Amino acid sequence: MARPVVTVTRTLPQGVEDRMAKLFDMRFNTDDVELDGQGIVAATSGADAMVPTVTDSIDADVIAALPDSMKLIANFGVGVNHLDLNAAHARGISVTNTPGVLTEDTADLAMALLLAVARRVAEGERLVRSGGWRGWTPTFMIGHRVSGKRIGIIGMGRIGQAVARRARGFGLSVHYHNRKPVDSAIETELDATYCADLDAMLGEMDYVSINCPETSETRHLMTAERLALLQPHAVLINSARGGIIDEAALAESLSRNSFAGAGLDVYEQEPVIYPKLLVLDNVVLVPHLGSATHEGRVAMGQKVIDNLEAFAAGKELPDQLIQGRDF
Ligand code: 8YV
Repeated sequence: MARPVVTVTRTLPQGVEDRMAKLFDMRFNTDDVELDGQGIVAATSGADAMVPTVTDSIDADVIAALPDSMKLIANFGVGVNHLDLNAAHARGISVTNTPGVLTEDTADLAMALLLAVARRVAEGERLVRSGGWRGWTPTFMIGHRVSGKRIGIIGMGRIGQAVARRARGFGLSVHYHNRKPVDSAIETELDATYCADLDAMLGEMDYVSINCPETSETRHLMTAERLALLQPHAVLINSARGGIIDEAALAESLSRNSFAGAGLDVYEQEPVIYPKLLVLDNVVLVPHLGSATHEGRVAMGQKVIDNLEAFAAGKELPDQLIQGRDF
């Protein structure tokens, strides 16, 4: 295929769009308006490939309505819980994502949230800006120490391991829950302890970081019952997907101070935030910033281009998602 027709659902960094326009017959979303299912179908009419993002819900109905010309969904992002892989594969549409290039940025953000919650950074910033700070006192705005504590990482893939590396640097001991233990060389490098029993791990950690993909198995993994297992001084961080935590149960637990606090980058119904969370001081809320660095977004764009170029050349797609394969 010389010059495939490619629809991009959101505005990408300028340099990425410029490179795409040189290589493919592009349909850009110049207004950057979020598209609903009908909008996606209309925008992809006659397209060979599409480049969606996390804001596009591409469920089985949308997949069924895509034009017959559609052969590749090259997702701009690593998480693909917003699209129905099985339905795409059943229609003969390949799906790719952008692994590896947002690992460090997302891990940085997880640590930023951990530090912000533990040391009450956002709460302190709000106080200073409000003009309400009355000066230092020995008992003022006391938080929790980070070094010498335990972190439990849920999901020890690329991002989980990058969080573990950072956590070690901050003097935390690393524990993790995963479907299976990671390579023993990685365990040794990170001095990480595998916990087959998630519930047991939750009850013993000072910090818990969620770094697994959202799938049918991990949706609402953090139920009210599991949140209740966290120690009173524990801090929970989620930079993966909002749906992994039952948000209503989380707001309820935090409002009762059942554990110390939470740092969230992701939400169940983005950009809507569960209202009860907005009024709590023990939660730090940021707007899905995990991969939001100039470098990261350009690298994600390049990954998409690599996959589109392979598709145009009829070559194997570098980041093709195969059903059942661990991504
Ligand atoms: C992206 C992310 O910004 O890649 C992911 O899975 O969660 C984010 O960091 C987003 O998905 C872009 O589509």
